[in-house]
Amino acid sequence: MSVELILGPAPRGAAVATGVTTDRTGKPAAVPGLTAAVMAKRGFSAKPGQVLVVPGSQTRIFVGLGDASSVDADRIRSAAAVATRAAVHENSVQLDLLGVSKLDKRAEAQAIVEGALAVTYTYSGKPVADGVSRLQSVVLDPVGSRAAKEGAGVGRRIAEATSMVRDLVNLPPANLTPRIFAERAVEAADGSGFAVEVWDEHRIADERLGGLLGVSQGGLEPPRLVRFEYVPQGYGVGGTRAGGLKSAKSLPSLAVVGKGITFDSGGLSLKPADAMMTMKCDMAGAATTLGLFTILAALQPSIRVVGYCCLTENLPGERATKPGDVHVARNGKSFEILNTDAEGRLVLADGLSLAVEDKPDAIIDLATLTGAIIVALGKEITGLFGNNESFSGQVKDAAKRAGEPVWELPVWAPYRRHIDSDVADMKNIGMPGQAGSIAAALFLQEFVAGVPWVHLDIAGTAWADAPHEFGPRGGTGAGLRTLVELVRGFSKP
Ligand code: BES
Ligand code: MN
Ligand code: ZN
Repeated sequence: MSVELILGPAPRGAAVATGVTTDRTGKPAAVPGLTAAVMAKRGFSAKPGQVLVVPGSQTRIFVGLGDASSVDADRIRSAAAVATRAAVHENSVQLDLLGVSKLDKRAEAQAIVEGALAVTYTYSGKPVADGVSRLQSVVLDPVGSRAAKEGAGVGRRIAEATSMVRDLVNLPPANLTPRIFAERAVEAADGSGFAVEVWDEHRIADERLGGLLGVSQGGLEPPRLVRFEYVPQGYGVGGTRAGGLKSAKSLPSLAVVGKGITFDSGGLSLKPADAMMTMKCDMAGAATTLGLFTILAALQPSIRVVGYCCLTENLPGERATKPGDVHVARNGKSFEILNTDAEGRLVLADGLSLAVEDKPDAIIDLATLTGAIIVALGKEITGLFGNNESFSGQVKDAAKRAGEPVWELPVWAPYRRHIDSDVADMKNIGMPGQAGSIAAALFLQEFVAGVPWVHLDIAGTAWADAPHEFGPRGGTGAGLRTLVELVRGFSKP
């Protein structure tokens, strides 16, 4: 991370950003350095998102927080982002936003750091930095509050993992093939408190992952399946009890499965040029899965978490799957492939089948799965599907705490007929122009064997077409904070 987080006194000359709330009558609260005359002249009313920069020997930045009684984590995260963005010409900015809400200091500090650091992200692969920002450090002075320091620490981990996910999504597809992704996962696991295992194309064939293998046929790059496992300290991975370690089998457990298409051309059902331009983002679910594991050892949740990244390219080479071909997934179910561009569900079929074999209490998958979810929900809301109300509720609550908008759509059983096939257990597309995201979820449901499961369709939210509140155009890291909140609060549904 290029911008440093300082927890303590600010360096000399740092700008100071102060949050300004309003009272019940809508009047801004009095804060030092901001007179009513200046506010009136500059039209500052302390509305959420408003910012006022007052230059001087020390730059003062004022950010609106709105009604004091309704300041929540989302409001604080946004204010921290706005303030940090307003400080790009400073060397350092101190964020005086602690103690502005009814939240505890831990949650406040986490939200401040998440928002502030998220907007400082720049793609690390660009040879020449943009040079617009001078900002070296963001300062939060928790004055002896242990809770605030801990919250800030979690916020920093989340920001670092978000940057990693964004970098992975933004990397050119030639520089992030399935093999390279798997190498990066192994590097990330080194000394980070989670285990990693990589299956190559031979192992993938031996293990009968017919979906992943089938999609990979059209390209020269071999596929990879990456498995992660986290257990709390004192427990053995893989259910082992070696060396006096406890077996993790009795702990609550969660499986996370990520779609990892490092480039989606559509295969023989080739995409038009315009639709292909952002398809390096089609591994965002897998990147987010990896991102979660890099934070787990620091969070130390008292649960077991396994993760699967299903990694391949989707290309139209000579050996590519042809429309009409039938493949068989890990769990023995067959599918007829009528459109090779509906490839995500095929690789997830194997990932979900493997997750079921781990006997988790719940499974969550993240996938840039359908263009139809963008039609339904746009670019800022993640689609949520599930088969268990209690677990879907946990995920929705986690998303709310994380400030990541999600909206539930039904896994509507009568539409199962949309994916009926003449020659296999199902086909990989539904009815043209009808409920495409639901058809995809119904397909995935065939592979979870009744285990409580949630599918997050992040096709719209994983990639931003333009700069946004928390970062630049490109990979967003959507879903990561929801996963973090989910593991922190997880209980067996
Ligand atoms: N990766 C795409 C979905 C996607 C679209 C992600 C736009 C991000 C932005 C997926 O593999 C796909 O191509 N889905 C098809 C399915 C269809 C052929 C049934 C789609 O949505 O068009
Ligand atoms: Mn596709
Ligand atoms: Zn895809």
